[in-house]
Amino acid sequence: MAEPALTLDQLKLLATAAGAAPSVHNSQPWRLRPTPDARGMLVFGDPERAVAIADPMGRALHVSVGAAVFNLRVGAGRLGRAASVSLLPDPADPHLLAEIGLDEPAARHPFGHHLYPAIRNRHSSRQPFTNRDIPETVLGELIEAARQEEVVLSPLEEDGVLRVLRVTAEAERRTAADLARQAETRSWLRLEAPASDGIPAAALGPQDRDARVPMRDFTAGRPDAPAAAPRHFEPLPQLCLLITQTDQPADWLRTGQALEHVWLLATVHGLRASVLHQAVEWPETRWRLRDPEDPPHHVQLMLRLGYGPPGPATPRRPIEEILDLTDYHDNVGYGESSA
Ligand SMILES: Cc1cc2nc3c(=O)[nH]c(=O)nc-3n(C[C@H](O)[C@H](O)[C@H](O)COP(=O)(O)O)c2cc1C
Repeated sequence: MAEPALTLDQLKLLATAAGAAPSVHNSQPWRLRPTPDARGMLVFGDPERAVAIADPMGRALHVSVGAAVFNLRVGAGRLGRAASVSLLPDPADPHLLAEIGLDEPAARHPFGHHLYPAIRNRHSSRQPFTNRDIPETVLGELIEAARQEEVVLSPLEEDGVLRVLRVTAEAERRTAADLARQAETRSWLRLEAPASDGIPAAALGPQDRDARVPMRDFTAGRPDAPAAAPRHFEPLPQLCLLITQTDQPADWLRTGQALEHVWLLATVHGLRASVLHQAVEWPETRWRLRDPEDPPHHVQLMLRLGYGPPGPATPRRPIEEILDLTDYHDNVGYGESSA
């Protein structure tokens, strides 16, 4: 039997879950609107929050929105509803990135019920990790989580790790030498609290004292940024690539869903993660992230996984900013007590 229209509280739960997703530079480039019958949610990309120089195609924007879509699916399970996702449902509206139907009850075991608490607990951890290996069984579960989103998660062996670290270090140097990119990165740095987006001082991590793990320098040369003392990072980080066969907007949205599925499951297993995205932001270094022995494919994102400190919570925009309830109040929500 079809589920009733979503209540205001249910819409807010969904928006809070979606808004907690990871996003490039914490740009949170999404907007949500209930469908006219309030039995579903429309998810839009917000071009005004694009990181336009580093991400001219909007690839990272789509990945970010894909991660928000995944959280919406987990939130739907929390509400006892099944989520049917249609990516890019309207060719006439390139900003409408997903429509999520929520009019069916969930199966007996709602989707993602074990992942819901991790939505709040997942953070980027830019600190050094320990040398403890990730059990093969856990890696297997993460690979399967990505596969369910039609994306390949490829954990790298030592030679692959050394190759992608070299390429990422080169990309980080290129970015550091590019004045426009540096200015763009600085524009997302939020040293003055409070803020509702961007990278706060508390989320800045140290650089690797041994120059092995090229963490992104979010301070981008800003002279008053707090400088954390360099630390020794794990000598051989566990790096995983997220890979797709084609390189279209739907692949980017699937990558975002896979990223968040993997990251939430990793969080449940007590793992920490951070993204190393610098090399994906230059066509030439992105190409060289690929394993040349493998058949053609597209690297979408690199994730560093391990055991270590959880990382701080970062700010999010208030849900009133991301959830457009204009039509809802006009059509469905009239008379609801809370506004
Ligand atoms: C497409 C994409 C690219 C990202 N690139 C990087 C990166 O290069 N370095 C990094 O430390 N974090 C990166 N992140 C993580 C974001 O900075 C992070 O999700 C955001 O600041 C919110 O913080 P949280 O993950 O702790 O919620 C990326 C995230 C996404 C979705």
